[in-house]
Amino acid sequence: MTERCQGDTRPRTGPRARTAIVLAAAALLAATSAVFLPGTASAGTTLGASAAEKGRYFGTAVAASRLSDGNYTTILNREFNSVTPENEMKIDATEPQQGRFSYGAAEQIVNHARSRGMSVRGHTLAWHSQQPSWMESMSGSALRSAMLNHVTQVATHFRGQVVAWDVVNEAFEDGSSGARRNSNLQRTGNDWIEAAFRAARAADPGAKLCYNDYNTDNWTHAKTQAVYNMVRDFKSRGVPIDCVGFQSHFNNDSPYVSNYRTTLSSFAALGVDVQVTELDIQGAPAATYRSVVEDCLAVARCNGVTVWGIRDSDSWRASQTPLLFNSSGQKKAAYDAVLAALNNGTTPTDPPTTPPTTPPTTPPSGSCTATLQDSTRWGDRFNSQVTVSGASNWTVVVAVTPPQKVSNTWNGSPTWDSSGNVMTMRSNGSGNVFGFTTMANGTWTRPVVRSCTAS
Ligand code: XIL
Repeated sequence: MTERCQGDTRPRTGPRARTAIVLAAAALLAATSAVFLPGTASAGTTLGASAAEKGRYFGTAVAASRLSDGNYTTILNREFNSVTPENEMKIDATEPQQGRFSYGAAEQIVNHARSRGMSVRGHTLAWHSQQPSWMESMSGSALRSAMLNHVTQVATHFRGQVVAWDVVNEAFEDGSSGARRNSNLQRTGNDWIEAAFRAARAADPGAKLCYNDYNTDNWTHAKTQAVYNMVRDFKSRGVPIDCVGFQSHFNNDSPYVSNYRTTLSSFAALGVDVQVTELDIQGAPAATYRSVVEDCLAVARCNGVTVWGIRDSDSWRASQTPLLFNSSGQKKAAYDAVLAALNNGTTPTDPPTTPPTTPPTTPPSGSCTATLQDSTRWGDRFNSQVTVSGASNWTVVVAVTPPQKVSNTWNGSPTWDSSGNVMTMRSNGSGNVFGFTTMANGTWTRPVVRSCTAS
């Protein structure tokens, strides 16, 4: 038998070596099983749950007219934890006649989403397109006031119900000019965008305020740079902007490019969140969908991804079959790629933060026991996982410490008390482990399990 000495790096083979490897692996697993292992945490089986485990949302555009389609709502309710009204919050829908507001279709979507624990992105308060005819024919200071009044009224109406608003949509020119788009709103003065953001902030101080655009994915494009310069300027002058939306309608004329991640991280470095807001990809190539999701997961300030419709037949570009579900509602290869990317996503590199010092909490047992454990942690938020034993139908009450806020949950049906700090989570058939994301808002105290009740 050959002698081996320390430092011998030759591969060992044979049964003894294999046993040693297995034992070493088991020891490593035992030593680390109490902490989060990227890629090996209980993987979600739906887009929303898997994204939530990564501290993100996965959303879709929703059309109110389709909420009566059972196939559509089954997929919506199962897979997504964020929605964007596709047309129902646009100016022509919410203020069809000047000063007369109409919120019915938008509220239908908001109520559907919020009653199921999904968050809502508002789209959009100020835009050159889909204006009602009264606004299209306006100009100058009358248009400026009408636009600001619209922003104020709509953002006020939905205050507290919309987590992020696309305050201004598509205000830049395509091509190499890097100029603002010539629109009736632009002609009211170059400061119309910041005026819209200020009005939105005053109307709903709790909502994140986004600038949203398309063809801003390629970092080298003039339009991308122009938007970047605007956001940098806004941040330097204190204009209230919190996020930038990348529509990401990819097709043969406007393809996904590998510098997309650079674009997302460069904007994030300005001190804004970034969101993929209207994703669809011509032909739905699985590899491209996977890349987009991986790019978002690689950027700590990328909050989530919204696809622009559920089934190909729901798409505004249906002939491009650009979505994750086919027209019968079946999952396409791109769906599997997205889910896999969400479940194996890389952990963003954030500045190190001090872990909470209190031990995991186990509340006094009534008819069941709930144990809370820390999971992934980012620069601004952290995940917790609660394991319930002793009951399959359970209700667990968890409290976070203000100003913390729960931003996302998975594998349970949540409701909140009026303070928004106490969450009652009920089993929903997804098993006995649920999780949630807490926005720290500067406070890193561990959430506390208050009770566990079997039902
Ligand atoms: C589209 C909708 O999907 C269509 O139903 C509607 O006819 C036109 O608008 N950029 C945006 C979205 O910001 O609002 C657009 O939505 C797609 C392009």
